[in-house]
Amino acid sequence: MAAFSKLATAVCLLVVLLLAAFSGSVVVEARPVPRSAPRRVVSSKPPDSYRVTSDGIEAFQKTRSFRNRKLLGETTTKSPENTPPQVADFNVDDFGAAGDGKTDDTKAFQNAWAKACSSAEPSTVLVPAGKKYLIKQTPLSGPCKSQVTFNIDGTLVAPEDKTGWNKQGYPQWISFTGIDWLTVTGKGTLDGTGKSSWKNSCRVNRKHPCTFAPAALTFSSCNHLKVEDIKLLNSPQIHLFVQYCRDVTLSHLTITAPGTAPEADGIHLSHTEDIQIIKPVIKAGDDCISVASGTKNLYASDVQCGPGHGISIGSLGNKNSEAQVSNITIDGAHLSGTIYGARIKTWQGGSGYAKDIKFLNMVMDNVKHPILIDQFYCTQPDPSKPKPCKELASAVEISDVQFKNIRGTGVTKYKDVINLHCSKTFPCRDVVLQDIDIKTTSGGKKNTAISSCENVKLSKSSDVSPAPCTSVGKKDDWIQDEFE
Ligand SMILES: *[C@@H]1O[C@H](CO)[C@@H](O)[C@H](O)[C@H]1NC(C)=O
Repeated sequence: MAAFSKLATAVCLLVVLLLAAFSGSVVVEARPVPRSAPRRVVSSKPPDSYRVTSDGIEAFQKTRSFRNRKLLGETTTKSPENTPPQVADFNVDDFGAAGDGKTDDTKAFQNAWAKACSSAEPSTVLVPAGKKYLIKQTPLSGPCKSQVTFNIDGTLVAPEDKTGWNKQGYPQWISFTGIDWLTVTGKGTLDGTGKSSWKNSCRVNRKHPCTFAPAALTFSSCNHLKVEDIKLLNSPQIHLFVQYCRDVTLSHLTITAPGTAPEADGIHLSHTEDIQIIKPVIKAGDDCISVASGTKNLYASDVQCGPGHGISIGSLGNKNSEAQVSNITIDGAHLSGTIYGARIKTWQGGSGYAKDIKFLNMVMDNVKHPILIDQFYCTQPDPSKPKPCKELASAVEISDVQFKNIRGTGVTKYKDVINLHCSKTFPCRDVVLQDIDIKTTSGGKKNTAISSCENVKLSKSSDVSPAPCTSVGKKDDWIQDEFE
């Protein structure tokens, strides 16, 4: 009898466990197995702090806050294969959030996060739909005990007044740091209320000092990160900033800011590897996507961009810094009304490389400078009187760059639709132009588009209109556009 009841208990237990495992497998979306075994960190340098350049952000020097932080390559959170499938939900309303758009709900968010992050089971922070949560500067950090999903269905709104926000490093509104296997998802919106910051920008009013305005959403040192579906609106500067992360998927994001919002990039990547960007819709005041140093293995597809400054690699090599960017593919993009299209920009005096870069299958409507490699990028003290940037002894080397299947229309005033402008000491190597057709006029008028080159070694060019390198590149009309 005793033996039988022991057996019965064991059987019951097994059934319960099986049920739990089964229901769990339905509720929890299976996470992909990491694409590759942890790799060596590209740069052994610790994360950087950031400083203002008129181009936005350049990695700079160590900061105290980052000094001891773990770098790429290690996973602290148990990977999904080893975690039990139970799910715990933490609704911010249960932590006292008012959701009226006026009450400061920062504490409620932090408390809900603390619970989720310390939960032994995979858990979700829920921000319910139909409500507006006023959130001040909110750093959320790991490591967490298990996977956390941050589900934003409602609206998060930043206070108009952002004075006193973390002046040392790069100010951030909502930031996630040191968290592995994090998912941020939902139908909700992050409203950065950036207007007040824009008008204080040195780009808008030259009398103002150039300072950083907050990034709306920042991820630092987060491996196996997913950000999907959410909307980012009117960030003071960068909308989505990803740095020192590995294995990142950004899918179906909507980013919206006016074309005049200074330095309001859409997605800014730095020191991050293995990234997929899927179908973003970006209206921005600066680059729709900017790829800074330390970015490796990026695949972006179906990008919608405009207004904005296009899709940019760089700027790289500012202040004689060393840059490393490789294996970047932009595959499928529609740009409309942007200043640039496919662009690589580097500073003189820098070192390192930007290599294996592909811009494929792009349509560009009404883009002033559709294809541009600019190895002489610099900022102009007075943008109304642009001066050529000085050639120095070193430069970031640019090689193995493909522009393929790109068509569209330029803007009549700007003739140089393909401009490849490289330095004598470090000519650009292995550049491929293929299947390109860009016109600068419509309505039956003559196509006035030209293509200029300087110190470029084309390894291939076929079916390219305008014919490649028909004029010698001298930085001309496009220089002043940096400040538009
Ligand atoms: C280049 O990046 C893509 C996208 O992340 C990746 O799938 C591919 O394996 C990378 N190639 C190499 C040679 O690392």
